[in-house]
Amino acid sequence: MDVFEAVESRASCRAFLDRPVDAAVVRDLIGRAARAASSGNLQPWLVHAFTGEPLRALVRQVGAALPDVDPRELAGGDHPVYPEPLFEPLRRRRLENGLAIYRALGIARDDVAGRRDQFLRNYTFCGAPVGLFLTLDRRCGPGQWADVGGYLATFMLLARGHGLATCAQASWARVAPIVRPLIGLPDTELLVCGIALGHPDPDAPVNRFHAARAPLAEFARLHGFRPE
Ligand SMILES: Cc1cc2nc3c(=O)[nH]c(=O)nc-3n(C[C@H](O)[C@H](O)[C@H](O)COP(=O)(O)O)c2cc1C
Repeated sequence: MDVFEAVESRASCRAFLDRPVDAAVVRDLIGRAARAASSGNLQPWLVHAFTGEPLRALVRQVGAALPDVDPRELAGGDHPVYPEPLFEPLRRRRLENGLAIYRALGIARDDVAGRRDQFLRNYTFCGAPVGLFLTLDRRCGPGQWADVGGYLATFMLLARGHGLATCAQASWARVAPIVRPLIGLPDTELLVCGIALGHPDPDAPVNRFHAARAPLAEFARLHGFRPE
């Protein structure tokens, strides 16, 4: 697979087959993704990977500890996933994306319980056989956040090279106080996001959804290039 194919075929996968991923492949991905660029070559990312019984135990324990409220309304997460309030055009993009996912799943707009259940699937890593967390020393700043983003993107694209699918999950940051003691994460480390990793379930309706992108003119300003 070349880099263009990897970029083209990567999409957030929210349903996985019950099929393990070889330990050597996971190690290879974690190690190779560290080829990502980072400012000053700081390589500030920290990776915590779970599979098998440790993953099942974690998902069980998180499930049992989740409060009855919608996790999207939980306070005290490791970082706010979105700016508050969200502004245009970001607000519109988020809204349209959410509506399109629920439409693909046949969950009605006013089906609060259905939406909550779908959101809670985040806390099972969407059934993936491998779940990872990316964390960062709290002393780090925006530059290192960007570096972790680079690691995340590189990891997700490399996974395509192994025929695997991923979903980045900032939703884990919302429940960091629950996760922290379960994985022995010190207070000095901030939970940036989770990553679900595995073989995509081709029959799951949620995986047939393809997120739209804004047209180039909406986000790029080109200077000195001849017009198309
Ligand atoms: C840092 C980050 C955090 C994300 N968190 C979540 C999440 O918690 N749950 C989820 O279902 N998708 C999550 N996503 C996936 C985005 O919703 C997805 O990338 C976006 O809708 C574009 O779709 P695509 O990845 O299929 O192209 C996240 C993506 C990124 C980059």
